[in-house]
Amino acid sequence: MPDDAQPRRVAADRRAPADHPLLDAIAERWSPRAFDPDRPLTEADVLPLLEAARWAASSSNIQPWRFAWALRGDPAFARLLGCLNPGNAAWAHRAGALVLGCAVADKPGGRGPNRHAAHDLGAALAQMAVQAAADGIGMHAMAGFDREAARAAASAPEGVEPYTAVALGWPGDPALLDEDRRAREAAPRVRLPLAEVAPRGGWGGG
Ligand SMILES: Cc1cc2nc3c(=O)[nH]c(=O)nc-3n(C[C@H](O)[C@H](O)[C@H](O)COP(=O)(O)O)c2cc1C
Repeated sequence: MPDDAQPRRVAADRRAPADHPLLDAIAERWSPRAFDPDRPLTEADVLPLLEAARWAASSSNIQPWRFAWALRGDPAFARLLGCLNPGNAAWAHRAGALVLGCAVADKPGGRGPNRHAAHDLGAALAQMAVQAAADGIGMHAMAGFDREAARAAASAPEGVEPYTAVALGWPGDPALLDEDRRAREAAPRVRLPLAEVAPRGGWGGG
């Protein structure tokens, strides 16, 4: 089948206008705010996303990521939603699931701080996002939440540090969003130039 005939999971204007060929799931990953309030996510929808995260690479295979999660309707969903900044809660309440991405601060066995913990959590969340895109599920990461409130909402054990909240859901109608967020939903997808973020030879050249 020619590539043009492949069914697209996202609108053409949401696909990354990349300078080089990408896997569809990477090009089609974006951060939507419009979720379908009438199409819930099930555990069977969410577990593959957590599984994708579980199979990320990590320093010394420590796997410092931890994910507290809840489906809309679970008491824990309301608890996590209550930790989000109002600007995020305004749209994330329609998500089918909320995830609290956490990192275990210390290496196991009393070997001191794991300075790659946040890096490895980010790698796991990136894999989750690509799997979500491949499955047609929208994923939107959020730094805008109250860390201490989230720690309490998830009953996070000592040393398990909340870093990133995540909203997941089936794509919804942007008309449900307020004007400002509706506009952001349609804004061009932009990135710094590749040569700026990836100088061959480093910043000294050569
Ligand atoms: C760690 C992290 C925190 C973010 N925090 C927020 C947030 O609090 N609220 C929000 O609306 N978007 C948030 N975003 C989404 C970014 O704004 C978005 O990823 C960026 O604009 C690039 O857009 P794209 O993901 O659609 O390519 C966050 C993304 C990441 C990775």
